[in-house]
Amino acid sequence: MYTKEIEITLSRLAKDLLARHAKQQLLNNPEETMEALQRVIIYNDWRYYVQSDPVLSDYEYDQLFAWLKQLEKENPHLVSPDSPTQKVAQGLAAASPGATKATRGAAKAFPSVPHLVPMLSLDNSYNADDLIDWDRKARELSGLSEIEYCIEPKFDGASISLLYEDDKLVRGLTRGDGVVGEDITQNVMQIKFIPPAAKFSKYGVHTIEIRGEVLINKDTFKAFNDQRAAENLPPLANPRNAASGSLRIIDPKEVAKRGLEAFLYHMSYHVMEKGVTEPKEITTHSNTLDLFTELGFRSPSKEKRVVKGIQAVIDYCNAFEHERDNLPYEIDGMVIKVNDYALQDKLGMTTHHPRWAIAYKFKARQATSKLRKVEFQVGRTGSITPVAKIDPVPIGGVTVGSISLFNEDVVREKDLKIGDTVLVERAGDVIPYIVKSVADLRDGSEEDIVFPKHCPVCNSRLEKPEGESVWRCPNINCEAQVIERMIHFVSKDAMDIRSLGESNVRKFYTLGLMKDIPGIYELDFSKLEQLEGFGKKSLSNLQEAIAHSKTQPLHRLVFGLGIRYVGETTAKTLANAVSHLLDYTEWSEEQLLALEDIGPKVAGSIRQFFDNKDNVAVLKKLESLGVNLQNTNSAQVGGGSLDGQTFLFTGTLSKLKRSDAEELVEQQGGKILSGVSSKLNYLVVGEDAGSKLEKAKKINTIKVLTEDEFIKLLAISI
Ligand code: IVH
Repeated sequence: MYTKEIEITLSRLAKDLLARHAKQQLLNNPEETMEALQRVIIYNDWRYYVQSDPVLSDYEYDQLFAWLKQLEKENPHLVSPDSPTQKVAQGLAAASPGATKATRGAAKAFPSVPHLVPMLSLDNSYNADDLIDWDRKARELSGLSEIEYCIEPKFDGASISLLYEDDKLVRGLTRGDGVVGEDITQNVMQIKFIPPAAKFSKYGVHTIEIRGEVLINKDTFKAFNDQRAAENLPPLANPRNAASGSLRIIDPKEVAKRGLEAFLYHMSYHVMEKGVTEPKEITTHSNTLDLFTELGFRSPSKEKRVVKGIQAVIDYCNAFEHERDNLPYEIDGMVIKVNDYALQDKLGMTTHHPRWAIAYKFKARQATSKLRKVEFQVGRTGSITPVAKIDPVPIGGVTVGSISLFNEDVVREKDLKIGDTVLVERAGDVIPYIVKSVADLRDGSEEDIVFPKHCPVCNSRLEKPEGESVWRCPNINCEAQVIERMIHFVSKDAMDIRSLGESNVRKFYTLGLMKDIPGIYELDFSKLEQLEGFGKKSLSNLQEAIAHSKTQPLHRLVFGLGIRYVGETTAKTLANAVSHLLDYTEWSEEQLLALEDIGPKVAGSIRQFFDNKDNVAVLKKLESLGVNLQNTNSAQVGGGSLDGQTFLFTGTLSKLKRSDAEELVEQQGGKILSGVSSKLNYLVVGEDAGSKLEKAKKINTIKVLTEDEFIKLLAISI
């Protein structure tokens, strides 16, 4: 174990080394620098793998690791056998008796089991030159002029290994420290795309260990966090943490509810049945991935590409990076593997990584910065949200300067102070968040974050209801709340009044042109015409968008009203259960509780909303201004023509907008899925449909429809 003092020293040393690395400035001499790098890397491995709480961003870690390797190469006589470049996550066993943060107290639930083959890491590359270099070395070692590679995504989840004997799944382990993992067999049995039995015997394989990554797809993760937001809980940081946390839930039934998925991408060990030689299915990596798919696993069969030569590798990596945000799951790079197993064996491994594979990392989405101040924002329900202002840092192509801290508990749990160095992450379309502060880098000048007692906008005394972690401004007429409610009402997923975004709502409100939600429908366009920057075209667009919003389906209005705890899903349930929104003024809490997924807290909040005379008056006013309060959905719950059917759209539709098409399906009682699986009933194919179509063709229960066929199915005329 490390003492606190040593931890502080090592964290500071890490920052010092990073600064020196940027200037290529040694600590006195190579020997001292290498020794310092080793200590820092070993310490960070322990923080990362054992404590699940790294002190460095991935990129910073990789920089230090690369520097150590560079110095070792320049000074081979100084390479120590204890160097982390020589071992799998070296130092873990020495630093810790094997208990991890996650298993402490639950050690019996997940016994430690050694891996059959150590789970090595991959060497990293960041640009074309790194790849060209790696390919050159591989060609030199093999004596070949050109090598065949298989390229596939680098999945950003939690890695696992699975052992199948006699076609049965007998064990599932976490990575652990790479040498010893935790036995999570019961939990992996709950994961989609991990079959409990697979016919390896068909190919003469008796025992096989395969590796892969457990993930939570972006939609599942978003739905999970939306639910947490509706319950006023801070969101889970990112899909990776959500996946690795879910793997360690003690109750497998709970694990099943998390919607975990897996990709299997590596055969690490196998034993053939007596006298049987390897069939062609397991002589190359690419064939093995196809074999996995055939046997019921999900492997990157569709995503992989086999190419010759490094230029084609570089091209595919670049093309895939562009697609990164369109994928249903998170990836943080690509993995390039020598395709032929015989050649892989020839190239062999170092003690840290195989020489036949390399990771190509996409642009980093983590960075460290300084926390300069915290501002307090008032939300539409009066909730006070602390927002961190950091020194702006570029992360994954976006500059981040402002980050929500959700509530006081989060600030306390993360032990944040003004002046702290903070680790910031922004994963894909997930909003940026502060992973942690690096407390060991404090110099004593940091200041506590003080929560206000009064609303920063209307000065009302703030309240914190018992059992809640959010402070609130109780004044529902607080200017900030009124504005935020309007911003929410016009937003894309609510009434979708484009061109009346946040800045125009603020502007019109400040100028006294629009004082509340009904005011949107009473805007005086002759006054707007006089404003600078509002041309004829933009005003007519705005007028059209406002008019269109009057006919939006009821669930959008319900969502737009911003009733506490009512997210999009609950809004749909509510909209579908009545013929007119004001029917709810007569509903009892018991009736509400009988609706799907509505618990006491949500029912109480809905009741409160419709008991409030002001709210009912607003609804009546909206109706008198022409806004639809009727449930126009012909198919009410349980009676839709697509009831229980599942749909997925792929490619570009020419007649319908994708979001409208999805809404039509939902209105008819159907469901939208995020990926192709045996659960899918219909795949609707537009132009340039890609891998989803290919995949769907292999599952013969899926009906593939053109856009016209889909429209016919809905019996609508466009
Ligand atoms: S192959 C011996 N393939 O990345 C090589 N790893 O940074 C075994 N990872 O520990 C790994 N996607 O958890 C491989 N397509 C992929 C991967 C992948 C993600 C993870 C894996 C590994 C880490 C290395």
